[in-house]
Amino acid sequence: MSELSATATFVLLAVTAAFAAFAAYWYLRFERVLPLERQLRRLGEKAEGLRRFSIRKSREAKTLVDVAATVTHDRQTQSALGAVVAIIARYLEADMVAFLLADEATGELVVQPGAYGLASEELLYRVPLTDEASSSVRVFKNGESFLAGDAQNDPGTIARYARLWKIHSLMTVPIATESRTLGVLRVGSFKRDFFKKEHLDLLSVIAGETAVIVETAVLNRKLSRTAEQLGALNRMKDDFVSLVSHEFKTPLTTIMGFITVMLDGDTGELTDQQRKFLNVTKTAVKRLEYLVTELLDLSKLEAGAHMELRPLNLADLLRASVERQRGGAEIAGKTIICELPEAVPWAMGDERWLTLVVDNLLSNAVKFTRPGGRVNASLADKGDFVMVCVADDGLGIPAEDREHIFEKFYRARNAAQGGAGTGLGLAIARDIVLKHGGKIWFESETGKGTKFCFVVSTSRQREAVL
Ligand SMILES: Nc1ncnc2c1ncn2[C@@H]1O[C@H](COP(=O)(O)OP(=O)(O)O)[C@@H](O)[C@H]1O
Ligand SMILES: [Mg+2]
Repeated sequence: MSELSATATFVLLAVTAAFAAFAAYWYLRFERVLPLERQLRRLGEKAEGLRRFSIRKSREAKTLVDVAATVTHDRQTQSALGAVVAIIARYLEADMVAFLLADEATGELVVQPGAYGLASEELLYRVPLTDEASSSVRVFKNGESFLAGDAQNDPGTIARYARLWKIHSLMTVPIATESRTLGVLRVGSFKRDFFKKEHLDLLSVIAGETAVIVETAVLNRKLSRTAEQLGALNRMKDDFVSLVSHEFKTPLTTIMGFITVMLDGDTGELTDQQRKFLNVTKTAVKRLEYLVTELLDLSKLEAGAHMELRPLNLADLLRASVERQRGGAEIAGKTIICELPEAVPWAMGDERWLTLVVDNLLSNAVKFTRPGGRVNASLADKGDFVMVCVADDGLGIPAEDREHIFEKFYRARNAAQGGAGTGLGLAIARDIVLKHGGKIWFESETGKGTKFCFVVSTSRQREAVL
């Protein structure tokens, strides 16, 4: 019996132990291990999510850095837009990317060159800003981004265009600076529901970064349009000036001819009064002739007159100019001194045009000195250049006028003291010297005098001048 009861006790104990072990296992398995496993799985998923998130973020960051670098470094705005389009297409795996900018002149949104995924004829795509059925127009007007999972069946888009471009997913974001909206950025995909909110957010950031270059592009376009219009106006003005000057030249020559004949007494005796009047007329006609000649010279230069560069003896040219002016200067009580060194190399220059430069510098010096004044013309060898200077001890150029003195029609405020003039001579002189690859400049002190100098290249033959 005791044996039996001992066995029963043992069995009972064993069963109890087994049950306890099972209960413990059960407890550990379902109450401890499984939740831990579940937690672990969740953590793993979270980690995977985080990993994907960080990859996406770093790709986003890289995209933004690429965009920023393009925007900052590419100075050609049009090609910068093209580069940004390529970056967006790559990152978003898009099938169509286009900038549509507002054209104020026509009141339309216009696809910009460099768009991605559009055939060349579709690049001409324009949509009137009045067409509210277009999502682009609405985004442009209300400044809110637009996202469609299937643009071909979305009441918010013009399905015709979506079908034309085979686009299903579509994102459109505004491009705006602080003060105004410039256009929109459209990105499409052939796949349905391809873009998510995060893509739209990134696109908005990119659109914000590119606003600056887009604005530059718009301004550049406006500027070049204005420049074209100004160019056309300028050409009209040049043509007009040149036509009028030509039409003046012949009658002026005729008038001058007859005045000279009459003053010579060839048409009979003249009374003193007639002679006086004729002389006054002759002076006026001379001034007109001078003006017409200067206007014609300027219009020829501005039309691109070509310099015929040949070895040129500048000493001879300077001497001849001095001799032409000496008579007039002496009558006005002024002296011209011409200082030429023993030997100066020849220059490379166009004789006719450089004569105009030297004549004008000398006539200015004589004109703007007081009676009794002195003008000094000189020539110097400067190695690769030959330098001509004309100095005077006259009125000087007031400081306020100096920076404008080479501009067309500009005369200093004290110019009237020297007599009449057009203010064209120095503009012509500068143009000629620059066309020679040379340089012209001056030094001046009000009330003390002025010195104008210019240099042109030395002739390679370096022929000595005696
Ligand atoms: N040697 C000079 N001394 C003082 N002023 C000068 C001298 N040369 C030029 N200028 C100033 O520069 C202006 C422009 O010269 P220029 O173009 O030759 O015109 P213009 O001789 O028809 O007046 C002159 O009107 C004058 O005010
Ligand atoms: Mg002059």
